[in-house]
Amino acid sequence: MVRPGNSWDSVAVLTLLLLCRSMAWAFGDVFDVREATIDTVHDALFSRSTTCREIVSSFIARIEEFNPSINAIISLNPQVLLAADHLDERIAAGNVTGALFCVPVLLKDNYDAVGMSTTGGCQGLANNKPSADAPTVSALMDAGAVILGKTNLHEMAFEGLSVSSLGGQTINPYDLSRTPGGSSGGSGAAVAANFALFATGTDTVNSLRSPASANSLFSFRPTRGLISRAGVIPVSSTQDTVGAMARNPRDLAVALTVMASVGFDPRDNVTALAPPEARHKDYAASLNGGSLKGLRFGLLNGFLNHTASAETTSVNDIMASMMSKLTAAGAEVVNITDPLYDTLAIAKLDVQAFEFRELLDAYLATAPEHPRPTSFSDLYSNDKFLVIPAQHQFLRRASTSSTSDTAYLETLNRIQDLRHALEATFTTNNLDALIYPEQKSLVVKIGALSQTGRNGILAALTGHPVVCVPAGYSPPSTDAPVGVPVGLEILGRPWSEDLLLNIAGHVSELVPVRRMPPFANGTVEGRVYESVPSVTPDVDGIHAAYPLGVF
Ligand SMILES: *[C@@H]1O[C@H](CO)[C@@H](O)[C@H](O)[C@H]1NC(C)=O
Ligand SMILES: *[C@@H]1O[C@H](CO)[C@@H](O)[C@H](O)[C@H]1NC(C)=O
Ligand SMILES: *[C@@H]1O[C@H](CO)[C@@H](O)[C@H](O)[C@H]1NC(C)=O
Ligand SMILES: *[C@@H]1O[C@H](CO)[C@@H](O)[C@H](O)[C@H]1NC(C)=O
Ligand SMILES: *[C@@H]1O[C@H](CO)[C@@H](O)[C@H](O)[C@H]1NC(C)=O
Repeated sequence: MVRPGNSWDSVAVLTLLLLCRSMAWAFGDVFDVREATIDTVHDALFSRSTTCREIVSSFIARIEEFNPSINAIISLNPQVLLAADHLDERIAAGNVTGALFCVPVLLKDNYDAVGMSTTGGCQGLANNKPSADAPTVSALMDAGAVILGKTNLHEMAFEGLSVSSLGGQTINPYDLSRTPGGSSGGSGAAVAANFALFATGTDTVNSLRSPASANSLFSFRPTRGLISRAGVIPVSSTQDTVGAMARNPRDLAVALTVMASVGFDPRDNVTALAPPEARHKDYAASLNGGSLKGLRFGLLNGFLNHTASAETTSVNDIMASMMSKLTAAGAEVVNITDPLYDTLAIAKLDVQAFEFRELLDAYLATAPEHPRPTSFSDLYSNDKFLVIPAQHQFLRRASTSSTSDTAYLETLNRIQDLRHALEATFTTNNLDALIYPEQKSLVVKIGALSQTGRNGILAALTGHPVVCVPAGYSPPSTDAPVGVPVGLEILGRPWSEDLLLNIAGHVSELVPVRRMPPFANGTVEGRVYESVPSVTPDVDGIHAAYPLGVF
C-alpha cells in the first residue's frame, strides 16, 4: 500500500541528504586526502561519500596552498577536472573498471602526455608538445588514473639537486634548507607533501631512489627491460629506467603492475628481455604472506661512509638500527666487504656521455607539434638551458662521444663483468637481497654543487631491480622538525620485484617510518574550481646562481 506523503518523505530525505553534503563541504568535513591510499580513495568514492571531482579538487587545493613553499610542480593538467567528471559519470553509470580508478598521479616532466608540454625542466623545451602519450602514461590512464600535472626535475635528469631553468629549485619538504634529492625531486617532494597518491620518475643512476630516500617514500627501479621507456626524454639506453614513488608499498606495487603491463614494446627493444610472467604479474599480491625470517641480506660495507660527521653519523646509526631489527626478526645479515663494491670505482663505467647525444637526437627527431629544437646541437646551441658547473664536462663529452667509440664497447664489456661479479656475490653468499643506504650522507643542502655520496650506480649499470624503503630520520633540528629522511635500498636479482616488494612490506611493518612533512601536515579547506588554476614555478635566483647556456 502506498502511504500518502510518501513522495514528500523522499523529497525531504533527498533534500536533507543534499543539505548534509553541502554542509559537510562547507565545514571542510570532506574526505581527508592526507596520506590517502588507493584503497581509502576507492572506499570513499564507491561508498559515495565523495566524488572524483572533489578528490581531484582537494589535491589541487593542497598544491595551491603548499607548492609555493617547495616548488615541486611545473604545470597542472588543464584537462584534469574534465577527466574527473568523466570518471564520476562512469560511477553513476555503474561502469567502474581499472586498478587506478580516480587515482590522482603526477608525472615527472620528462614523460610525454598529450595536452601538456614535456620540458625536462629545460627552457628550450618549454614548447615540446607531444603528439602521443608515453605507453606507460597510456597504461596509467587506461587503468583509470587522473594525471594531475607535471613535476620539476633536475634539468634533463642529469644530477640530483632538482634545479632547472624552467622549474627553478625544488625544496625538501622535511627541511626547507635542503634539496629533495633527484633527479626526480619534484615527484618526491610532491608525493611526500600529499599532492598526489603517487608520481612517476626515471632513474639513470639514482634518480628514483635518491628522492624516495630524501622524502620518506617507497620507490621501485625495475629490472632493465621490464617497463618500456618509450615516450620519455632519454639519457642512456644502458642505464635509464622508468618507475614510481609512493607513500606505501601497496600503492607502489599497483603502480608497478600497471606500468609493467605495457609489456613488449618495439619502440624499446630491451623490453623483449622480460619474461611474460613478469609483465603480467599482480605485484600487489606479492605483498601477501612471506616473512623476513630466514632471509639472507648482504650489507655492502663499501657503500657506507664510516667517517663520523653531522652528515654521515645519523645514516650509519639508522643502518645499524635497521640491521639489529632485521636480525631480531629472524633474518641474517652478511657483511660484504669485497672491495669491488666501491661506488667511485664503479662510477667510472658510467656510459651516459656516450649514449646521450644520439638518443636525444632520436627523441627530438620526431616531427614537433610546435616549433622547438630538433637535435642535441640545436638544443644546446642557444641559451635556453641550465647546467650546474659539475655538468659542463658531461655535456662537452656528450657532444663529442658516440656509441661507435672503442672506449664505449670496452666499457660495455666491463659492465658485463660487473654484472657477473654481482651475481657471483649473490650465489657465493646465498643471498636474497643486498642492502645499503641510498646515500652515505644526508641529502645535500640547497646551493651544493652535487648530490654527493649516492650509491645508485651499481643497479644503474647492472640493470638489477631495487626497491627503496624509508629507514629513519636524522635527529630533529630547527630546520628539520622531524629530522631528514634516510632511505634503504634493497637490491635483488633480475625479475625479483615480487620478492623485493614483499621484503619492503615486511620492513615497513617492522620499522614504520613514514611521516608527513610537518609544514604541510594540516588540512586545506575544500575548494570548488571552475577551471584548473595555473602554477608558476619559482625561478628567482636560479639564473644568478647558474648562468644559462654556458658549458
Ligand atoms: C565504460 O567506460 C569506458 C571508458 O570511458 C568505455 O570505453 C566503455 O565503453 C564504457 N562501458 C560501458 C558499458 O559503458
Ligand atoms: C627493434 O628491433 C627490430 C628488429 O631487429 C628493429 O627493426 C627495430 O628498429 C628495433 N627498434 C628500435 C627502437 O631499436
Ligand atoms: C665521508 O664523509 C666525510 C665526512 O662527511 C667526508 O668528508 C668524506 O668526503 C666522505 N667520503 C666519501 C668517500 O664519501
Ligand atoms: C664489516 O666489516 C668491516 C671490515 O672488517 C667492518 O669495518 C664493519 O664494521 C663490519 N660491519 C658490520 C655491520 O659488522
Ligand atoms: C604536524 O606537525 C607538528 C610539528 O611537528 C606536530 O606537532 C603535529 O602533531 C603534526 N600533526 C599531524 C597531524 O601530523
